[in-house]
Amino acid sequence: MNDPLAFDAPFLLGMMRLHSAYDLSTPGALADWLEARLDEGLHWFDHADIYGSREGETRFGEALRHRPALASRVRVVTKADIVLPALDASGHAVKHYDTTPDYLAASIDASLSRLGVERLDHFLLHRPDPLMEPEATAEALDGAIDAGKVGAVGVSNFMPEQWRRLQDAMRHDLYAHQLELSLAHAEALFDGLYDAVLSDGHRPMASSPLGGGSVFEDVLGSSLSSLADDLGVSRAGLALAWLRRIPGSPVPVIGTLKASRIRALVADSSLTIDRATWFMLLEESRGHRVA
Ligand SMILES: NC(=O)c1ccc[n+]([C@@H]2O[C@H](COP(=O)([O-])OP(=O)(O)OC[C@H]3O[C@@H](n4cnc5c(N)ncnc54)[C@H](OP(=O)(O)O)[C@@H]3O)[C@@H](O)[C@H]2O)c1
Repeated sequence: MNDPLAFDAPFLLGMMRLHSAYDLSTPGALADWLEARLDEGLHWFDHADIYGSREGETRFGEALRHRPALASRVRVVTKADIVLPALDASGHAVKHYDTTPDYLAASIDASLSRLGVERLDHFLLHRPDPLMEPEATAEALDGAIDAGKVGAVGVSNFMPEQWRRLQDAMRHDLYAHQLELSLAHAEALFDGLYDAVLSDGHRPMASSPLGGGSVFEDVLGSSLSSLADDLGVSRAGLALAWLRRIPGSPVPVIGTLKASRIRALVADSSLTIDRATWFMLLEESRGHRVA
């Protein structure tokens, strides 16, 4: 049976940079861009309330209101619990995390309203909160699923004991798990974190899958370029193929909004690499061989 919450696309489109994309700053231009992506089979969008300090979600919602036919075609992930200094109501202007039930319930309602969608397909806690009371947080998250506001709850940037305390208090299963993973940040594959994600049945999502662009620098960048030329693919497509080769096939959450770069990544999305090539790229990225 098809899982309606599965990430059924070659990658998600990350919205972290949307607020600074001047060519997408009008609802019409962004609606055109969204429609083109949807027509390419890219219907998953990764938001967070803090991206552009709410502006990412706001712009996205304005584009959907501008072209209402798109709303039923998009699938959204969003995240909350980080309070930016400018939005801290305490008067301290301190950046902090908030996983209290009232804060999360208000965040979910606000994201639904800004995005202009009926449901957040996935809602993730953005960062682990050392002051989290698991039972209270779990009740709020389970309640949002029961109310149909959220399809599934997941986590981002959590360590195993942090998400397991939350899971132990929840009725619903945690579903998506967003972690930083790329040729530039492969630590999770060696310290047990990624194995714990898979063991607990979470669906892994790789944020910053090109290391924010840093995979194209230095020795690794040269290796990616020459191997990509040999294979007749783009170097970015090769870097994503390295990720997909990992068991569990973490789905990349890419950051570029440039149509030509996105099209190249779609074109290269069926590329597979063998074990030796995978380790060769790892070696180039770390500057040393495995033990
Ligand atoms: N959960 C979390 O805590 C967390 C943290 C960070 C990010 N994220 C998510 O991950 C998404 C992606 O993050 P990211 O922007 O760091 O991702 P990324 O895909 O690793 O990096 C994107 C950067 O690479 C550059 N780039 C250079 N050549 C490229 C090429 N050929 N193809 C594609 N990109 C190329 C892009 O430049 P151009 O823009 O000029 O194309 C952009 O600056 C975010 O939007 C967000 O949704 C989540």
